[in-house]
Amino acid sequence: MTEGAASDLDSVPAVTLKLAVHGAVDMRALGTRLASLLRRGDLVVLAGSLGAGKTTLVQGIGAGLGVRGPVTSPTFVIARVHPSLRAGPDLVHADAYRLGSRLEVDDLDLDADLDHSVTVVEWGEGLVEDLAQGHLRITIDRPQAAGDTDDQVRTVTLAAYGRRWAEAAGQLRSVLSSPAR
Ligand SMILES: Nc1ncnc2c1ncn2[C@@H]1O[C@H](COP(=O)(O)OP(=O)(O)OP(=O)(O)O)[C@@H](O)[C@H]1O
Ligand SMILES: [Mg+2]
Repeated sequence: MTEGAASDLDSVPAVTLKLAVHGAVDMRALGTRLASLLRRGDLVVLAGSLGAGKTTLVQGIGAGLGVRGPVTSPTFVIARVHPSLRAGPDLVHADAYRLGSRLEVDDLDLDADLDHSVTVVEWGEGLVEDLAQGHLRITIDRPQAAGDTDDQVRTVTLAAYGRRWAEAAGQLRSVLSSPAR
């Protein structure tokens, strides 16, 4: 794991972390660890090519939050609300792959749920960041030669923006540097 410099400016990440994730099971475990920090109003933007592992990470986030599943790749539904099975936040899982513009994002009304949910948007980079005061951007890189098995290495780069994450920087580092499972 490597780290970047701290800053409280919204345009510069308060924290950047890079880690290697070996397999889908560990990707879900990473999501579950992240979920322990997530709270109402948080926005997570997921980037990475087709099949990189974005939905797999969201499955772990859903498990960690204790929301009603299953978390799947939405085919026709662009945003799905997974209600909390405890007193915690709901999970709003959106996939902006088919959305071309900010206007289409506005049509989803994500901001209606944002304050009382954790909102995670696949393919949301450059489209949804201004919905919240800060956000976590997680980029998953998949090696070009990777085939179709569940046990491949992915590089996960996390950048945390805004005061919310500047204040939680230490927690973020310690949660992500703990053992994978
Ligand atoms: N280290 C890993 N992390 C995550 N997924 C992995 C890993 N290694 C292999 N996989 C496999 O890669 C696939 C990732 O699929 P997933 O649907 O999560 O990707 P995605 O980024 O959401 O794709 P899309 O862009 O189509 O939404 C799964 O089949 C998963 O088992
Ligand atoms: Mg997906």
